[in-house]
Amino acid sequence: MFPNKTILKIDRKSKQALYLQLSNTFIELIKSRKLLPETKLPSSRALAENLNVHRKTVVACYEELLLQGWVESIAKKGTFVNANLPELNVQDFKFDNQGKGTNTTGFSFYKNEELARKYPKMKDGFMYLNDGISDARLTPTEDIARIYRRICSRKHIYKEMSYGSLFGNEKLRKTLANYLNKTRGLSVSYENILITRGSQMGIYLSSKLLLKKYDFIVIGETNYTSADSTFLQSEANLARVSVDENGLKIQEIEEICKKKSIKAVYVTSHHHHPTTVTLSAERRIHLLNLAQKYSFAIIEDDYDYDFNYNHSPILPLASHDANGNVIYIGSVCKTVAPVFRVGYLIASKEFVNEASNQRRFIDRQGDALLELTFEEFIKNGDLDRHVKKVMKVYKTRRDLFCRLLEDKFKDVFHFEIPKGGMAVWLTLNKKYSWKTIAEIAQKHKLEIGEWQRYDASNSGHNSIRMGFATYNEEEIYELINRLSKTMNEVK
Ligand SMILES: Cc1ncc(COP(=O)(O)O)c(C=O)c1O
Repeated sequence: MFPNKTILKIDRKSKQALYLQLSNTFIELIKSRKLLPETKLPSSRALAENLNVHRKTVVACYEELLLQGWVESIAKKGTFVNANLPELNVQDFKFDNQGKGTNTTGFSFYKNEELARKYPKMKDGFMYLNDGISDARLTPTEDIARIYRRICSRKHIYKEMSYGSLFGNEKLRKTLANYLNKTRGLSVSYENILITRGSQMGIYLSSKLLLKKYDFIVIGETNYTSADSTFLQSEANLARVSVDENGLKIQEIEEICKKKSIKAVYVTSHHHHPTTVTLSAERRIHLLNLAQKYSFAIIEDDYDYDFNYNHSPILPLASHDANGNVIYIGSVCKTVAPVFRVGYLIASKEFVNEASNQRRFIDRQGDALLELTFEEFIKNGDLDRHVKKVMKVYKTRRDLFCRLLEDKFKDVFHFEIPKGGMAVWLTLNKKYSWKTIAEIAQKHKLEIGEWQRYDASNSGHNSIRMGFATYNEEEIYELINRLSKTMNEVK
């Protein structure tokens, strides 16, 4: 017989419809064999009275169960648990809907332990050092939401809501072509642009198209480690060249090219990641000439082009590329906020066509509504206004952050004031270690996080990036205060 009605708990405050709560509970009871096949369910009237719900709720619940095949209805006899249900091995049934989920699988799969990054858990009252990201509190969310709402309420918006182009929204591609040609000296048509979900997707697609096992790609020592891992996914060989105050040492690339064939060079030319330096004009030209001579690709990751405090932005390598060697990658994720996954990969039409084919395997298309929103955001001048506004704020923060670092930690850290971007590259005096500092910092509610990632090849440079843009002035004082307390204990 049917178990006690207390089993069928209903949460009247829940947003889920009563009939669905009820049918889900029945399903759990059947799966866990608390309700065995052929058990007769109470009549809808009796159960409704019992549970103090409207009879229509129980009828809807039974219809749902019928539709899903958990029960069967026998004329003139009533509703019964389906007699032919196979037995299912299930975990202990819980009545509170608070499943724990499973930790392990019942099958084997390919794991890459090197990818297992341990992100710090957010703890109350803690301050978190980051790699250099924008302050989400300054994001013009209201403006973006207004544009999004307006777009969604257009009469023919449904046309944008089906499967669309693999290349991304055409309007955005055209607006971006205009915008980037004007602001970054490019000379591209919209057909040279693939809209991505951020720079990382552009790096991944480029890697997929350029690299196979044992192919060589040149990167800096140091380099953006997520790019390293992406290239290693293609089983490529990483050839590292030195980085100094003028960026990648292009002469070393030339030496490599004389000895072996390379497929690509990855470069964060504007602000080298992680050290923040800018690739000098002379080296830019040298690199472009080498690319032409030795027919390799330059993956130019221009992740934070907009933020320059001492000079106007330096035009990207892509703006001088007459021979189709540069794959130019960018996004709004640094400029506006990481949550808005809108970016671009710009290259020859031939490359962009193939990249769009590859993209299909992992993402059938982008978010057309968000893309249309950013199309307007850029065309209206909102993006430029936002950049102007936050630049002033970040410059003030950079100046304060660097001044305090200089005042308080003269003998501990060495750094250059970054000319742009959102982070400082801090080298720690060799007598200290980041490991110890990170451990002691915990006591002062300061999370230094992934300090190891900056020295992926164990060169021992003892440096990390510290983002300054996320904190307001008061928070910068507090952060430096916590760092001071930490360093007092380290000494
Ligand atoms: C150098 C560099 N390239 C690419 C990315 C990825 O950016 P996106 O969020 O646009 O995918 C980041 C993010 O931190 C970065 O620092």
